[in-house]
Amino acid sequence: MVKTDHIIRSQIAGIGSYLPAQVVTNEELAARVDTSDAWIRERTGIRQRHIAAPHESCAFMATEAARAALADAGAHASDVDAIIVGTATPDQAFPSVAVRVQAAIGAGGFGFDLSAACSGFIYALSMADSLIKSGQARGVLVIGSEVYSRILNWEDRGTCVLFGDGAGAVFLRAGEGAGRGEDRGILSTHLHANGQYGDMLYVDGAVGRPDRPGHLVMQGNQVFRHAVTLLSETVNEALAANNLPQSAVDWLVPHQANLRIIDGIGRKLGLPPERVVVTVDHHANTSAASIPLALAEAWRDGRIERGQLVLMEALGGGLTWGSALVRM
Ligand code: ACO
Repeated sequence: MVKTDHIIRSQIAGIGSYLPAQVVTNEELAARVDTSDAWIRERTGIRQRHIAAPHESCAFMATEAARAALADAGAHASDVDAIIVGTATPDQAFPSVAVRVQAAIGAGGFGFDLSAACSGFIYALSMADSLIKSGQARGVLVIGSEVYSRILNWEDRGTCVLFGDGAGAVFLRAGEGAGRGEDRGILSTHLHANGQYGDMLYVDGAVGRPDRPGHLVMQGNQVFRHAVTLLSETVNEALAANNLPQSAVDWLVPHQANLRIIDGIGRKLGLPPERVVVTVDHHANTSAASIPLALAEAWRDGRIERGQLVLMEALGGGLTWGSALVRM
């Protein structure tokens, strides 16, 4: 009898999301700052964003997305061993958003937040994969939740038009694979950071300081210049690590910062636009929430199916960047 190698794989069992009810269009922003729908659409692809109401805190949205992911997986709070929340906009310095979610859903185990700006979900997915592979957890909620509306300078047209609020979550379960590209689950993650670029994109204040909450400051064109190059490198790295050709990718689910960056990566991968999940037009940039929000949308409407290969990538403040290759 031929012996097969069995390895632990972190498999996506369920996906969920939450978006605030309030939608703000480009035209509405143009009434507040010196901008136009045409400029925003042409430079970014954004036409609207969701903005949180006072009760829609980072933890509230994370909890709603987590509940939806567990329901999608047919799982319960008792199946959750760990909760990781990627966020740059926690409601408080501590306790973490993760333990607020834990209390709200009635889970045990442990939880923590992770700060990697727009790469937060990829970083969190990678940490969850390590916890599962090392046997420390069998069920992990990985959440991206952001309320950027609270750290935007609403008088700075260069940044306030770019971001939106929302949350997305996946529930990962330990499964088995043979160590090959056909396995279901996370095939690989690759993380990078370069702190030399820390001042390219930052918040000039502190979490939990109502007197100095801080605003997002970004040299957008500098970030843009690095984005396509670094993201192309990391998606190629993901495919090479798994010995898979570009043509094996069924879906690109990128971080949603700018349609021009997304199109650039899609073209480099040789993927037709209909194989790239785009939500930046109706969600804007929701930072760590953007990938799970996009994943949830394409999963719910049936575009992404079980067994398909999904490539995710993100770049954000830090600079941080990375990729995850997942067979659904
Ligand atoms: N409306 C009208 N004009 C504007 C606006 C606006 N909302 N914003 C800027 N402008 C003007 C600028 O003042 C400038 O005018 P000037 O030439 O007279 O000085 C002109 O438009 C061009 O500005 P740029 O910043 O060079 O425009 P660019 O084409 O680079 O687009 C953008 C800006 C959309 C921000 C783009 O650079 C971008 O998407 N960058 C990447 C953002 C990103 O990926 N961030 C990482 C994730 S975010 C995170 O981690 C939190």
